[in-house]
Amino acid sequence: MTGSVPPQPSADLIYLDHHASTPILPQVQQAMQPWLDRGYGNPSNTLHQYGREARDAVEWAKTQVANLINASPEEIIFTSGATEANNLALRGAVKSLAGSKGILITNVEHPSVVEPANYLKSQGVSVVEIEVNSDGIAEPENIEEIFSVSDIGFLSVIAVQGEIGTINPINSVAEIAHAHSVLIHTDAAQAVGKIPVNVRDWNIDYLTIAGHKMYGPKGVGALYRRKGAPLEPILFGAGHEQGMRPGTENVPYLVGFGEACRIASEDLENEAERQRDLRNYLWERVHQSAPKVRLNGALEPRHPGNLHISFPDIDSRELLAKLPKYALSVGSACHSENPEANPIIQSLGIPVNYAAGTIRVGIGRSNTRRQIEQFADDLIEAYQSLMEEG
Ligand SMILES: Cc1ncc(COP(=O)(O)O)c(C=O)c1O
Repeated sequence: MTGSVPPQPSADLIYLDHHASTPILPQVQQAMQPWLDRGYGNPSNTLHQYGREARDAVEWAKTQVANLINASPEEIIFTSGATEANNLALRGAVKSLAGSKGILITNVEHPSVVEPANYLKSQGVSVVEIEVNSDGIAEPENIEEIFSVSDIGFLSVIAVQGEIGTINPINSVAEIAHAHSVLIHTDAAQAVGKIPVNVRDWNIDYLTIAGHKMYGPKGVGALYRRKGAPLEPILFGAGHEQGMRPGTENVPYLVGFGEACRIASEDLENEAERQRDLRNYLWERVHQSAPKVRLNGALEPRHPGNLHISFPDIDSRELLAKLPKYALSVGSACHSENPEANPIIQSLGIPVNYAAGTIRVGIGRSNTRRQIEQFADDLIEAYQSLMEEG
């Protein structure tokens, strides 16, 4: 792109892609603004007031993140997002594993778990992959079976799958992992701020959070590390974040992330209920008008704003072309899409003639009932018109 004026966003669509990213809430923007305008001190330089105030702001943000997941602030390591938190968990914890111990991941993890696992494999670590069941869930019994035949030291299981929105039974999996002295990490980028997450109840060792999936800014996130859980840094520099993640903290963005967590702590359950009602209404309307439509994964437990459905004998890109007023997705949250080759589509046994007709609706805080009613009408009409065109 060229030109002397910075590009301006102009899209004015109904946004149904809240798994890919979420709008920054107005209160979050307000909380960030003073730290963009005048709070530019370096939090490490606490000799003067600029630095001390910036340090206090980072600590405030950390407390909000910790409170939302029932952790203590010392257990939160700020990162540049979920990708970095996942890399830190896998590569940083695995460095501490004894000799031949391997790692286990599910076949529906985000690339930011899969690729560090592939990297570790290239360095000689044994990596085992387990398939989720036809509802998209990682079954604790299957995981236990692998522990009995392979020498595993670290397990990563996604909390809420970013495409189909299904929720894994993290506490049951953690119980089994700990009984076998296996460290457990969960990528909760799609869970935190959407469903209740309590690291003590879940009994996990590491958990990943992303600011921009929960109405905070992009480019910030965190890794929760249970006090005492082994971890080594993967980046080296000045000793920020207890030596685990060097680099001057992004104060305005962290304050925004903290404010987003504070807001979620206040109304998460009510907002989840509201989104669940909208999602169930949409599913019922679509299912009634197009009985052949397929819901992928169990309806519950599922991310309250997620609907992942497949229509037979159509191409979802053609369907979306008939819905120009809406922003939604045909595939995964934020990486390239080839429906038939997608491991989710394969694991769930979605028939070939349905795979290409898959869409993901991501309802969020920005959606009203009126919007979802309108979308239901427009989606049904678009599908029927495609069918008529043959
Ligand atoms: C489950 C999950 N983990 C990790 C990420 C990566 O997040 P980020 O791009 O903020 O690093 C995503 C993004 O879609 C995700 O859905």
